[in-house]
Amino acid sequence: MKRITGIIARKLGAKLWWQPEGAAVCARDARGCGLKPTAKSKLGSTVTDHFSVADRVVVITGAGQGLGRAFVKTFAAAGAHVVIAERNVEKARAVEREIAAGNGRATVCETDVADVDSVNRLGAGVERSFGRVDVLINNAAIFSTLDMRPFDQIPLAEWEQVLRVNVTGPFLCACAMLPLMRRNKRGRIINIASAAVTLGRPNYLHYIASKAALVGMTRSMARELGPEGITVNAVLPGATYTEIARKTVTPEQKERIVAMQCIPRPETPEDLVGVVLFLASDASAFMTGQALTVDGGATHP
Ligand SMILES: NC(=O)c1ccc[n+]([C@@H]2O[C@H](COP(=O)([O-])OP(=O)(O)OC[C@H]3O[C@@H](n4cnc5c(N)ncnc54)[C@H](O)[C@@H]3O)[C@@H](O)[C@H]2O)c1
Repeated sequence: MKRITGIIARKLGAKLWWQPEGAAVCARDARGCGLKPTAKSKLGSTVTDHFSVADRVVVITGAGQGLGRAFVKTFAAAGAHVVIAERNVEKARAVEREIAAGNGRATVCETDVADVDSVNRLGAGVERSFGRVDVLINNAAIFSTLDMRPFDQIPLAEWEQVLRVNVTGPFLCACAMLPLMRRNKRGRIINIASAAVTLGRPNYLHYIASKAALVGMTRSMARELGPEGITVNAVLPGATYTEIARKTVTPEQKERIVAMQCIPRPETPEDLVGVVLFLASDASAFMTGQALTVDGGATHP
């Protein structure tokens, strides 16, 4: 009975003083995307206020596929304006269409994070369109296209290209977003590194070296930017299975990795979105320079 009354009341737009059976804690808004804050507590800010990213301007690099695409969907569903800064425009546009179909807000800005002019155009475009940036997620990397080889067989040009995209890229993006964050006296930089840095994994040394550098960069940048209200943190995912096939984890390695985890199942992109949302929200305001590992406990000491 309560359930039926709840459905009728919701259709009439009436407020209920009780929680109808089966109702979500955070109801989705009428457009089907974006989380509505729950009623204000008389005790102060609500949990949803602390964790909200609604209306935040969030730049996500390399978001045409894989983890970046999952992050775009999450932030758009939470009511943010997302900028998809991606080199592969076709893929980026496909993600933009997915978000528009769900009435979310995402815009593509063709960007090569390894190219300073391209990154500066991204900064100028974000400033022109929004006048600010709240969150930068340095996610783009040379990753799923990598071949595995012993380190002494990695061609120098490939080594340099991986470091250029995976280390210089986040540096250039942070430099481009900094003036906008400084103006607001707040900002969040989230660097997507890798749990492989802790574990050590053979046969793609350039990649591991680049992600270790990103963790060091996170810690030092956090020290420089803390006084300005800008936090810098890293997320270290374990081997995460996206829609993209790759050669860096063979089926046998996948089995071995899952067996090492405390939670013995393959990691999915959805396993990472909670920690990234948290780092983007006010709830993590006093946390900076940290490297958060999300790998089902594979690297748990
Ligand atoms: N999937 C995993 O198992 C895993 C594990 C640990 C860390 N990570 C990290 O998470 C991030 C995303 O991983 P993924 O699996 O989605 O990778 P992916 O290779 O599937 O996607 C990378 C994206 O970055 C884009 N990109 C590459 N070079 C670029 C450039 N110069 N400028 C702009 N965009 C560029 C690509 O076009 C692609 O869309 C990467 O930083 C990766 O190193 C992934």
